[in-house]
Amino acid sequence: MISISKLSKAYGSVDTSLLIVLKNVNLTINEGEFVAIMGPSGSGKSTLLNIIGMLDNFDAGSYQFKGQSVPSLNSDTLAELRLYNLGFVFQSFNLIAQLTAQANVELPMLYTRLKKTKRQSNAVQRLTELGLGDRLNHKPSELSGGQQQRVAIARALVNDPAVLIADEPTGSLDTETGIDIMHLFQRLHQNGKTIVMVTHEEEIAAFASRVIRMRDGKIVDQGLAA
Ligand SMILES: Nc1ncnc2c1ncn2[C@@H]1O[C@H](COP(=O)(O)OP(=O)(O)OP(=O)(O)O)[C@@H](O)[C@H]1O
Ligand SMILES: [Mg+2]
Repeated sequence: MISISKLSKAYGSVDTSLLIVLKNVNLTINEGEFVAIMGPSGSGKSTLLNIIGMLDNFDAGSYQFKGQSVPSLNSDTLAELRLYNLGFVFQSFNLIAQLTAQANVELPMLYTRLKKTKRQSNAVQRLTELGLGDRLNHKPSELSGGQQQRVAIARALVNDPAVLIADEPTGSLDTETGIDIMHLFQRLHQNGKTIVMVTHEEEIAAFASRVIRMRDGKIVDQGLAA
């Protein structure tokens, strides 16, 4: 599904000061894996995740997604690929404050060809599956953190993407709520979803089927048995 080879990325320029954030990263993620990326703050986890999610570019190396070379895609193809293949969940939920839970979940479908009634019923179905069937018309500020994150997960999943990308999805939640979210991820994984998640917490990473460890822009442990 995801194949990254000798990937490097730097910020800044040679005449200012060059900060190398990713160095020669090699990473393969197969369909159906649930991967956790761990490492100290500043080690490049979010940068790598954003590259995997096609939200950010890189300077050297290669990235193939389902056999297609990502840097070679034009922006329309990239947008289409992202819409149907990648769902995003962030630490801060990133919901639209003015919209109800249901309207937030309908958003990614606005770019598809689905009719309005279908968009509405899909959103209701997703939210109901995640236990929010009685919160459809609540705005984010009227929901708990765990409920907001479940709305964000419903939104991320509504186009049935191949990969769920999550950057510290439990980072703003208390331990118990975070574990609830991980039970949800575990269920998605059991149903075949590929998940790539960054976390600081070992007990959250323990839910993944593989833990990758980064340090100073390098992968120091691929989490594969020797
Ligand atoms: N847009 C940017 N411009 C310049 N430097 C950046 C930019 N984004 C990230 N960096 C730097 O790149 C390095 C890696 O950042 P990244 O966000 O990937 O770390 P991280 O492992 O996700 O850290 P954290 O655990 O704190 O979220 C850091 O030193 C950061 O300051
Ligand atoms: Mg980060």
